[in-house]
Amino acid sequence: MPVESEAPAPLGLAAPLLAWYDRNARDLPWRLPPGTPAVPDPYRVWLAEVMLQQTTVEAAREPYARFLARWPTVAALAAADDAEVMAAWAGLGYYARARNLLRCARTVAAAGGAFPRSEGELRRLPGLGPYTAAAVAALAFGARTLPVDANVARVGARLFALQPEGPALLRAVGERLRPEVPADRAGDFAQALMDLGAVVCRPRAPDCPRCPLAARCHARALGLAEAFPRRTPRRARPTRRGSVWWVEADGRVALVRRPPRGLLAGMLALPGTGWSAEQPRALPFPGDWRWAAEPVRHGFTHFDLVLEVAGIRLAVPPAFAEGLIWTSRDSLAGLPTVFRKAAAVGRELARA
Ligand code: ADE
Repeated sequence: MPVESEAPAPLGLAAPLLAWYDRNARDLPWRLPPGTPAVPDPYRVWLAEVMLQQTTVEAAREPYARFLARWPTVAALAAADDAEVMAAWAGLGYYARARNLLRCARTVAAAGGAFPRSEGELRRLPGLGPYTAAAVAALAFGARTLPVDANVARVGARLFALQPEGPALLRAVGERLRPEVPADRAGDFAQALMDLGAVVCRPRAPDCPRCPLAARCHARALGLAEAFPRRTPRRARPTRRGSVWWVEADGRVALVRRPPRGLLAGMLALPGTGWSAEQPRALPFPGDWRWAAEPVRHGFTHFDLVLEVAGIRLAVPPAFAEGLIWTSRDSLAGLPTVFRKAAAVGRELARA
């Protein structure tokens, strides 16, 4: 009696895809060259994947090198000072990831310093969602699984002309492509799809003539490659407004530490109003303030922030709020991006 197999039979996508990858793999600092028998250090893979959820491949190069130079092993990162890691994360945004990075490093270090090998166990580490767990399992341990990021989702949506959007698309692509993952090169297979999505199966103007999978692509056969995946219309984000204050005295500037919960929790910040201000321009004390002609704008995940910036320079540091942290105006690189933008403006205001 024929036995029905549960997984669909592979379509044979791996061979042409890997042959393409062997010739076209991007040279990236967290990778070994295609087909290398050695396995990459799971710590390096994990660190890269966490950063790459936050930023582009090009923008990740510099912070990745900086983190590895400062904390070359998971044990080193586990022993790091929280504030130093938060400061090093500046510019990568979304500090909850940096907090989880530390929690994960400490969990791994406390368990002996080796990352677990299975996707299921990886998933239980702090901050590892389905994507990161699958990425580390496949890339560092060769597990036959597939991390589906936006690039892989786009390739899959086109290959199979898939209609779903958002998380449903990620699931559908995973189901269709996982049976294609070869037992001996799971990491290369995943990264080949990522590279194909980044350089050939681009969001706009896909370069189908260069695609090793073009002959099997349903969207292309329909003449509709660019129409997949269907684009979810973006919901308009609300705008929130407030003021920030650059208060400078004797080469130092007043900073505050944000509350331990909420957005940018525990990070250093310029002092200012809350961000739902009815009256966006407000000042903490009277004086010879100057307002920036243009506000600073910053996009957060759920809202756009528009901050009016006021600056003042005084001879004596004023005690205008609790818990002020007077910091050299030349060492603000660890501030979150929104406050670095505001600091650049405030500093000029105080100079004038
Ligand atoms: N994006 C996320 N992970 C990646 C990787 N390992 N290589 C290239 N792009 C990626």
